[in-house]
Amino acid sequence: MVGVEDRDTKSAVRRFPAPVVDLRVIELSTHAESAGSVQRGLLQHADILACPRCGGNLEFFLDILECNWCGSEYASDCGIPRLFFPHDVLYGPRDLTHQVQDFYEDNPFPKYGDSDSADSLREQSLSSPLARLLDEQLPSKALILDAGCGTGHLANFLGTQKDRQVIGADLSLNSLRQAKKFKDRCGIHNAGFIQMNLFRSPFRKGVFDVVIANSVLHHTSDPLRGFSALASLLKPDGLFVVGLYNPLGRVGNDLRRLFHRASKDRLAFLRWRSEKQRSRFIQRYKQPCESRHFLGEITQNWFAAHQFEFLYSSPRIGSKHLSGGEDLRYGRWPGDRSMQFKTELGMMLRGIVNDGLFVMIGRNKAQPKQIEAPEVAQAAVA
Ligand SMILES: C[S@@+](CC[C@H](N)C(=O)[O-])C[C@H]1O[C@@H](n2cnc3c(N)ncnc32)[C@H](O)[C@@H]1O
Repeated sequence: MVGVEDRDTKSAVRRFPAPVVDLRVIELSTHAESAGSVQRGLLQHADILACPRCGGNLEFFLDILECNWCGSEYASDCGIPRLFFPHDVLYGPRDLTHQVQDFYEDNPFPKYGDSDSADSLREQSLSSPLARLLDEQLPSKALILDAGCGTGHLANFLGTQKDRQVIGADLSLNSLRQAKKFKDRCGIHNAGFIQMNLFRSPFRKGVFDVVIANSVLHHTSDPLRGFSALASLLKPDGLFVVGLYNPLGRVGNDLRRLFHRASKDRLAFLRWRSEKQRSRFIQRYKQPCESRHFLGEITQNWFAAHQFEFLYSSPRIGSKHLSGGEDLRYGRWPGDRSMQFKTELGMMLRGIVNDGLFVMIGRNKAQPKQIEAPEVAQAAVA
């Protein structure tokens, strides 16, 4: 029987013919010094890639990835495979992917400083408890997807570790170019970058040990659906790291946004001592799409509903004793509603100075799903 998903895919495929290959882009990337390096990295992982249009196998031909089922061709730009496929046909006029894409093409985030190096990136990153936790506890040979990696700070940082393989993916090509430029300049061999739409990812299901979506899904039109799409890419027992805005934690930011709007940003320049600060200002107050999420919503509607075991939350829910330490090998009790609410009130107070982001980590306990038979995808293209 053909499901709604299959019908949607068919109509998407009919409405979107195979992407036209932009020869100028290929020519540029072929002549760029480092053009092949991501490809070489990704070639090792060619078996985890799938056509974002039909799910077929992708093969490299020089700088182009070609689907051997539907014939779609995907060019690359400076060694970054462009595997973006739109999903707006499935979501209608309320879908904001293109607005978000435009916003991040104009405002890649976060910025690198001119003097930043692999060492300074490591030093900066290790001052963040989350980055330190991931660096210390993610399995050393893990294959990691940083979905919505922006300019790739976290992906490049995690990629400095010898045995890890990190793929940073984003819809903003400008952000990815900065990520790739930094990677090449600093010789970070274990990170690679790819352009994608997380709703139509170019990866097979069940291939990653870790999926990270930090400060990403709340900038999409359907965060829960985005979570489901990314969760399906995890291996059994794989870890999902998700960072989202909380409504109470974000109150401080909302008030500041109102203030800047009312003053027509006249005082904003006081906060811009550098390009980095200007970029942070735009990121905080000018987003085209931003949703907020309660802690219980993630532990229940996202994690539990997808058979994920709760492992970690920052800020911690309840007391240290109740939410446990930071050992990602062990599941935890995510607290009851009143504990979660108290944690959110704490975030509201801290939100006066910070941006109201919380991070949760869950482990995929779902039974592996049957992989879609090639004929199904082929039928969708027919
Ligand atoms: C706030 S930035 C976060 C960047 C990075 N994760 C970090 O924590 O610094 C959000 C990123 O999500 C990306 N993004 C938003 N919607 C996306 C989608 N549908 N597919 C892929 N990336 C997306 C944006 O392009 C942007 O770079």
